[in-house]
Amino acid sequence: MGKKVVVTGVPGVGKTTVINGAMERLAAEGVAYKAVNFGTFMFEVAKKENLVSDRDEMRKLEKDVQKRLQQAAASGIAAMSGDANIIIDTHSSVKTPTGFLAGLPEWVLRELMPDIVVLVETDPDQILMRRLGDASRARDMEGYRAIAEHQEFNRAVSAAYAMYTGCTIKIVRNENFLLEQGIDDLVSVLR
Ligand code: AP5
Repeated sequence: MGKKVVVTGVPGVGKTTVINGAMERLAAEGVAYKAVNFGTFMFEVAKKENLVSDRDEMRKLEKDVQKRLQQAAASGIAAMSGDANIIIDTHSSVKTPTGFLAGLPEWVLRELMPDIVVLVETDPDQILMRRLGDASRARDMEGYRAIAEHQEFNRAVSAAYAMYTGCTIKIVRNENFLLEQGIDDLVSVLR
């Protein structure tokens, strides 16, 4: 049975950047991982149903619609993962207009049963600058305090994921000028 690793972090913290670096490093060592983006699975369904025109609109959809898309993504990923080592790029929680929505509620965990949940974190001011510098996305503009609070909530809700599945929780720092260190940390849990 392959390893299932869920990688999470607030928007713009650099999850995808760290995952890509780790995948490259592992490929060079001959360790194969498949990386899938949970949001992309949700977006494919949402687009087909004409619910949104870009992925950043999904977190603003009605809660029950987001939950349905979430369920569809979880079963799609579970069906395609088989026995491979897999990295799932997603969110511990999603900030919606009516509050934080759990990214891995019971019906998602039951499908995925991760071995490890990784929280990619860095200082909120660095995240804010990364969001401002990325014109390709419609990211929420929040201040230091709101980003810090979201990261705190992600730690709290991840403790519940560990209680339900027995997975471990790994915190990986992805700091400015220290990307390679973040990649090293992720590689050490994936290897
Ligand atoms: P998703 O696409 O995952 O949105 P996101 O969090 O915005 O993810 P990104 O890939 O854009 O950000 P990132 O943290 O990976 O940062 P990146 O590497 O690009 O999800 C889309 C939507 O799907 C969600 O909003 C939600 O609606 C839905 N969704 C997903 N999962 C869900 C779930 N489980 N339940 C319900 N809904 C769900 O980097 C950002 C920038 O920082 C880049 O410019 C990069 O170059 C820079 N950077 C990275 N690292 C460093 C560094 N060390 N130093 C300096 N710059 C850096």
